[in-house]
Amino acid sequence: MKCKRCGETAAVKLPSHHAGFCPDCFELFFKRQVETAIRRHAMIAPGEKVLVAVSGGKDSLALMRVLSDLGHDVAGLHVHLGIPDSSDPVCARTEAYCRENGFALHVLRMAELGLAIPKVKDAVHRPICAVCGKIKRHYFNRFAYENGYAALATGHNLDDETARLFANVLRWDEAYLGGQGPSLPAEGRFVRKIKPLYRLTEFETAAYCFLKGIDHWKAACPYSGGASFTSHKRLLADLEYTSPGQKTAFYEAFLAKGRQHFRGEGNDAGPVLQPCARCGYPSSAEVCGVCRIRSLVEKAGA
Ligand code: AMP
Ligand code: FES
Ligand code: ZN
Repeated sequence: MKCKRCGETAAVKLPSHHAGFCPDCFELFFKRQVETAIRRHAMIAPGEKVLVAVSGGKDSLALMRVLSDLGHDVAGLHVHLGIPDSSDPVCARTEAYCRENGFALHVLRMAELGLAIPKVKDAVHRPICAVCGKIKRHYFNRFAYENGYAALATGHNLDDETARLFANVLRWDEAYLGGQGPSLPAEGRFVRKIKPLYRLTEFETAAYCFLKGIDHWKAACPYSGGASFTSHKRLLADLEYTSPGQKTAFYEAFLAKGRQHFRGEGNDAGPVLQPCARCGYPSSAEVCGVCRIRSLVEKAGA
């Protein structure tokens, strides 16, 4: 197969785009998908500082690289979860990557904040991944807000977004459907949340990392039963295999035609938010979920 752009031998085949690309043209394709996402959803204004949540996995390392190559002012934030045999090597790999590439990186250690995930796991009797996700999102936003970043970028890709959309549709969850998207505006103490890789698949970010020599962390979290929404991702992969382009069509049509119907009057807009009585960040209850988790951990350790 020949590269669609330059005619050289193709290295990456993309049936959804009816194309194959050589390494250089694939990188250009990748950058253009990110530029299109940023432009269409007004993700980053000129000169704005962006905080990239870097887990050490392929998506977030690729995101840091591509945003920097596109000239954006980026810094990374890694949340060290305090999980034995996992968090130290993941953090070390993330630090090495940022150091070698000249990217500023901040590290937040959950153990120092009294929320090491193993302790949280013992104190909270709910699935740990959901609880950990809540804690991470709280600190991503809080760090970005307190340090003057205009936007917080995460490495969610098209597979993540379509699997989430599919799950929300299965439940017809109006509040989540109305709020889902690649860019959520800033509001009060919430900074803007952006997903610049939303037009790229997991395969495409993996290919980008491979071709750019990005040495990412491959092991799953020891507490997770695998990637999130695994069964939905499998279903959507089957659909994509029989009709290339379906995932993009499903998601883009939702943004263009579907989402608006879940935002209007009469729809469940989700809970009304108020400042948490302890930390001051937006909460649906008097005390936010993270401050309640902290109380449980303190009680369990007392
Ligand atoms: P996940 O939910 O694990 O697929 O992660 C989704 C995105 O959240 C990643 O692409 C990162 O941008 C971010 N993320 C997840 N875990 C961490 C972490 N420990 N530190 C910083 N960012 C993270
Ligand atoms: Fe949070 Fe595994 S429990 S990443
Ligand atoms: Zn709080």
